[in-house]
Amino acid sequence: MKPDEVNTVGVVGCGIMGSGIVEVCAKAGLKVAFVEATEELKARGQAAIERSTAKAVERGKLEEGERDAALGRITGSTDLHDLADADLVIEAVTEDLPTKREVFHAVDQLIRPDVVLATNTSSLPIAELAAVTKRPEKVVGLHFFNPPPVMKLLEIVRALTTGEETVTFARGMGERLGKTTVLSKDRAGFIVNFLLVPYLNAAIRMYEESFATREDIDTAIQLGLGHPMGPLTLLDLIGLDTALHVSEVLYEEFKDPLYSPPTALKRMVSAGWLGRKSGRGFYEYDK
Ligand code: 3HC
Repeated sequence: MKPDEVNTVGVVGCGIMGSGIVEVCAKAGLKVAFVEATEELKARGQAAIERSTAKAVERGKLEEGERDAALGRITGSTDLHDLADADLVIEAVTEDLPTKREVFHAVDQLIRPDVVLATNTSSLPIAELAAVTKRPEKVVGLHFFNPPPVMKLLEIVRALTTGEETVTFARGMGERLGKTTVLSKDRAGFIVNFLLVPYLNAAIRMYEESFATREDIDTAIQLGLGHPMGPLTLLDLIGLDTALHVSEVLYEEFKDPLYSPPTALKRMVSAGWLGRKSGRGFYEYDK
């Protein structure tokens, strides 16, 4: 299948990343069928898309009519069978290998054999997901960045088994979605997180040791390096549970202390301080 033949994209999982991916696809003129585990999660995902598109209208990034049309192209469900007509499926469920493998195995049985099955994993091996399907050559990583409607990058991750045609398709789809693509091999962290995680972990250690305040660490990076946000604010945006998980996967792969998750990160996650989404992380937020 060619990227311009894609009419419907299936998205599994409608959390922070899934809802952003649904929005990106719908704004690009595609029909989107998303699937969540429960009615409550489905409603939460739909509400997140409505909030984000409202913000886009407010900021003059989207016409009201385009927003209504995009929302009209989205359907939510709690039944994976509703992905049957999809021409591309992107999985964006929780960063847990057994859960993702289960989803890949189930979705593989439901969709046409010519359909590319992609994962938005930020660090897990694509090969492990390809292995539970009958279409390993059609399995690829499509790693979006948070928030997907704003961040322009799409990391394409090619596993040992990914076919050349699938990589070409992924590049074309990235272009259709308005993203710039880069190609990475299937190694934990790919390009971005391989570089980002040691930096974020170092910022947490600096905070943990009371070397500087959270505000000063963030201001130093924002104003000294011109980043849009400092590392602790960024961690709160990413979600501390996700950051911990990515760090653990990288540490497992490389056994390099640079990737070993700082104690403060582990304790904060145990305490339910997950960043913006839980109302508390390195900073406090209105829920
Ligand atoms: N829809 C469309 N556009 C939007 C939008 C929305 N919902 N919300 C914001 N924007 C646009 C704004 O209009 C603005 O565009 P402009 O520069 O053309 O005017 C731009 O996004 C930035 O907006 P603001 O400067 O007003 O700042 P915000 O506070 O709204 O932006 C942010 C927040 C975009 C998140 C910005 O702070 C940023 O880029 N932060 C860094 C994010 C980052 O590094 N993400 C990667 C995380 S790592 C990751 O995802 C990998 C994972 O695997 C861990």
